Amino acid sequence: MYFVTGTDTDSGKTLISSALLSLAQGNKCGFKPIASGCVLTPDGLRNPDAQALMAQSNMGLSYQQVNPIAFDPAIAPHIAAAQIDVTLSASKVVEALLATPILAADFALIEGAGGWRLPLGNNQYLSDSVKQLDAYVQTHNAERVGVILVVGMKLGCLNHALLTLQAIEADGLKVVGWVANQVDANMSEIAANLASLQQMMTVPYLGYVPYLPQASAELAAKHLDIAQLS
Ligand SMILES: Nc1ncnc2c1ncn2[C@@H]1O[C@H](COP(=O)(O)OP(=O)(O)OP(=O)(O)O)[C@@H](O)[C@H]1O
Ligand SMILES: [Mg+2]
Repeated sequence: MYFVTGTDTDSGKTLISSALLSLAQGNKCGFKPIASGCVLTPDGLRNPDAQALMAQSNMGLSYQQVNPIAFDPAIAPHIAAAQIDVTLSASKVVEALLATPILAADFALIEGAGGWRLPLGNNQYLSDSVKQLDAYVQTHNAERVGVILVVGMKLGCLNHALLTLQAIEADGLKVVGWVANQVDANMSEIAANLASLQQMMTVPYLGYVPYLPQASAELAAKHLDIAQLS
């Protein structure tokens, strides 16, 4: 089971998650447990990240299973929740995920929201959900939740990448891979920044995804080495 986090919102978590799912074998499913920024349809709120992950999944999960917590405005989830008197908590997220066939998947991937320390309110964070989930799967099938860090390559990303890696590891979680994803078409000194990150990031490197004007899961997948994950 994997949890995909990023250096920031818009770092490319959905693109990289979709690409990794497209490369995975067997029963696979992607989850976006908390999404803000949805479209209201006759069937309810729909979030494009959840829909992109569903398009690369093959376990026939319902939209509600993939995205149990959805908010209309594209704002911080705990603020969106407060506006409609909803209380978020780390355990709510974990319970929603464990109510699905997630443990039966050969490849299950959960996309976070924002970055690693996304607030849920009441002094809880989405990272607490990952900790709880990791504790649960360790006791049930001796696996671990592997965290994948997507570094959105732009000016300032070195600091964000190193702080995020440090925070994940300080939380006792295992980072099983990182991806350099070029979100800024005009970033200067890409090669030198990439070399610096490769030297400082002490976890497996899954690849560098260049800026893709027509970004798609299939195109991004060509740049990723999923074998590094096992
Ligand atoms: N390598 C890339 N080349 C070109 N565009 C990219 C690349 N990576 C991401 N993008 C674009 O940047 C935007 C943000 O990417 P994405 O939605 O994957 O980020 P995210 O981290 O999932 O954001 P969120 O925090 O909203 O979940 C999207 O429009 C996506 O298509
Ligand atoms: Mg996303």
